[in-house]
Amino acid sequence: VKKVTTNTLLKMKANGEKISMLTAYDFSFAGIIDSAGIDVLLVGDSASNVMAGHETTLPITLDQMIYHAQSVIRGVSRCLVVVDLPFGSYQSNSQIALASAIRIMKETGAHAVKLEGGEEVLSSIKSIVSAGVPVMGHLGLTPQSIYKFGTYNVRAKEQEEADKLRRDALLLQEAGCFGIVLEKIPATLAREVSESLDIPTIGIGAGKYCDGQVLVMHDMLGINTEFKPRFLRQYLNLHEQVTSAVAKYIADVKSNDFPNDQEQY
Ligand code: KIV
Ligand code: NA
Repeated sequence: VKKVTTNTLLKMKANGEKISMLTAYDFSFAGIIDSAGIDVLLVGDSASNVMAGHETTLPITLDQMIYHAQSVIRGVSRCLVVVDLPFGSYQSNSQIALASAIRIMKETGAHAVKLEGGEEVLSSIKSIVSAGVPVMGHLGLTPQSIYKFGTYNVRAKEQEEADKLRRDALLLQEAGCFGIVLEKIPATLAREVSESLDIPTIGIGAGKYCDGQVLVMHDMLGINTEFKPRFLRQYLNLHEQVTSAVAKYIADVKSNDFPNDQEQY
């Protein structure tokens, strides 16, 4: 199989072919999603929420992200694997950022890292890119800054914040990012930014004009039932299906139906 690279994504944008991206955190699901033909898997720090049960993405550690990334990498053969740099592993200075990115690349075999923010983290991005590590940016709603924003509402609706986002997107492209996630911003702004860049934008709650789309695996499979933002299209109701499978199993055990004569030695 022909592997997806950061260059593949640039060509897809140039050819107007949309990029598909999902999150994954473990070997088994990564294998299913890769075999289904996804272009990019993100080992997101959303693992902090959906895998570990934290309320925010802040608590997850670099060691924990590395464990998830190692598991995902063992499961895939075609897609590009991008790993989130967790909160605290890149903001303070560019040397720490580079050390964190190098740990991810060396210890997991992943293909790229992603980090949140614009101008504030530019020196970190530049030193990681200089080391030969592909970097994906992330603008708009940046969950690691939730305590600065105070809410998970749509970002960049006001002129000032929209202007900063436009500037940041160009800075990230100039710094050498191979793509940018745009999270929860108006579709018109995402369209403008996408058209102004040569590198692809990957939207989540950022409308149809982005060069690709990303969703959190647990949300699109309906594992999470409480989280239902407007931008989420749910493709399965796994919560319901797993619940009824487990209920059936419990009933079969209690009624002595399982195991039957064929299911024993
Ligand atoms: O951590 C994550 O899942 C993400 C996506 C929502 C883009 O950063
Ligand atoms: Na993330």
